[in-house]
Amino acid sequence: MRKLTTVLSVATAALALSSSAVATPPQELIDEGRAIYHDKTRGNCISCHNIDDPVANLPGNQGPMMIAMKQRFPDKRLLRAQVWDATVANPLSIMPPVGKHWILSEDEIDAVVEYIYQY
Ligand code: HEC
Repeated sequence: MRKLTTVLSVATAALALSSSAVATPPQELIDEGRAIYHDKTRGNCISCHNIDDPVANLPGNQGPMMIAMKQRFPDKRLLRAQVWDATVANPLSIMPPVGKHWILSEDEIDAVVEYIYQY
């Protein structure tokens, strides 16, 4: 019985941890993504995509505005795939394939995706 109780409490703790990770990404990750998104020497997403963030400086309009991301990309993995390589959806895309061409690291892409997913 004691063993079962231990197993159950470990399982409950693991579930609590994993569900909180899915529901709310850590604020540091979002902040990191924000920095990358607006940094002209890193992601430079802002040069083509406006976003409703007060720090947005000289936003471009080559690409669609980052808005209603959760509604338009209910599956976050598809959003990440789009950021990783925009040429899959549109072979003539002018958007740099930031993952495929190693412009951003995998961790940096995760951070940018979490940031834009807030809008
Ligand atoms: C040189 C301009 C340019 C840059 C820089 C750029 N994008 Fe794009 N992006 C586009 C264009 C244009 C599209 C429209 C689809 C296409 O043509 O590929 C697009 C599409 C997207 C989409 C899909 C939006 C939708 O409504 O379907 C997302 C998400 C996106 N970009 C995110 C990013 C992120 C994040 C960055 C920075 C890492 C970035 N883009 C950098 C031009 C750009």
